[in-house]
Amino acid sequence: MEVIIRDTRDQAVSLAAAIIARALVKKPNLVLGLATGRTMESVYELLVAMYEDDGLDFSLARTFNLDEYVGLPPEDPNAYRFYMNKHLFHRVNIDLRNTHLPNGMAEDIEAECRHYEEEILDCNGIDLQVLGIGRTGHIGFNEPLSAMHSRTRAKALTPETVEQNAPLFTGGTPMPRRAITMGVGTILECRRCVLLATGREKAEVIAKAVEGPVTAMISATALQLHPNCTVIVDQEAGSLLQNTDYYRWIFENEPDWQQYH
Ligand code: F6R
Repeated sequence: MEVIIRDTRDQAVSLAAAIIARALVKKPNLVLGLATGRTMESVYELLVAMYEDDGLDFSLARTFNLDEYVGLPPEDPNAYRFYMNKHLFHRVNIDLRNTHLPNGMAEDIEAECRHYEEEILDCNGIDLQVLGIGRTGHIGFNEPLSAMHSRTRAKALTPETVEQNAPLFTGGTPMPRRAITMGVGTILECRRCVLLATGREKAEVIAKAVEGPVTAMISATALQLHPNCTVIVDQEAGSLLQNTDYYRWIFENEPDWQQYH
C-alpha cells in the first residue's frame, strides 16, 4: 500500500482523476471500477472537464460500479445508476452498454450477484478500481464483519451508514436498508485499487484502515493485503496518520510519482 497526502482536497481529487485519466489513455478499453458518494462527485467533475477540454476518450472503456441499493429502479434519483448517468456517463462519450451496475430490482438477488461476478470475469477482471471509504470503514458497502473472501452479494447497511447517506436522499424515497455490493474478495482481485478520502470526518477511519491491524471489522484494512493499492488523502483526512514523513518521502522520491508532481 502507498499513502499519498496532498495538502488540499482539490489536490487529492486531482491526483485521483489524473491516475484514472492516465490509465485510460494507456489502455483505451480499460475496465474501470467505480464508486459513488460525495467524494467521487468532484473526481467525475474533473474527468468530464478532461473529456470536454482535452478529448479524454471513454468510447472503449468498460465500467463496473461497486454497489447499488436493493429496491431502487435505475430512474430513481437516489439510485446509483441515476447518480452515475448524471455525474459521468451522460456527460462523456462512454457507450452506456459498457457500463455496469448491479440490478437492485432483480427478483433473484443471488442470481444477479452471480451474474455480476461473471460479467466482471467476462471482461477479464477490473484494471483499476476507484474506492471511497465510509465512516464504518466500508469499501463498497462491505460493512463490518464482511468476510475478506466475500463476493458480490446483498448486505444490510449499518445504522451509521444509513445516518451517513440518508441526508442524500431526495423526493421522499426512504433509504433502502440493503445494497448489492462487490465483496472484499472481488475488490482484492482488481489489478489496481485507488482509495480517495478527504475531510476531517474521515481521519479516524483512515488511520485505522492504513495503520491499524487487518480486521474484518474494518473492510478497508483488507487493502493492506492488496499488491497495488494507493490511498490518497488530503491533509485533514490524513491528520491522524503516524508515519506521514515516510509517506511524503515516497511521493517525492518514487520515480512512478514524478509524472504527477
Ligand atoms: C459507494 C461506495 C461507498 C462510498 C463511501 C464514502 O459506491 O462505494 O463505499 O465510497 O460511503 O462515501 P462519501 O464519499 O459520500 O463519504
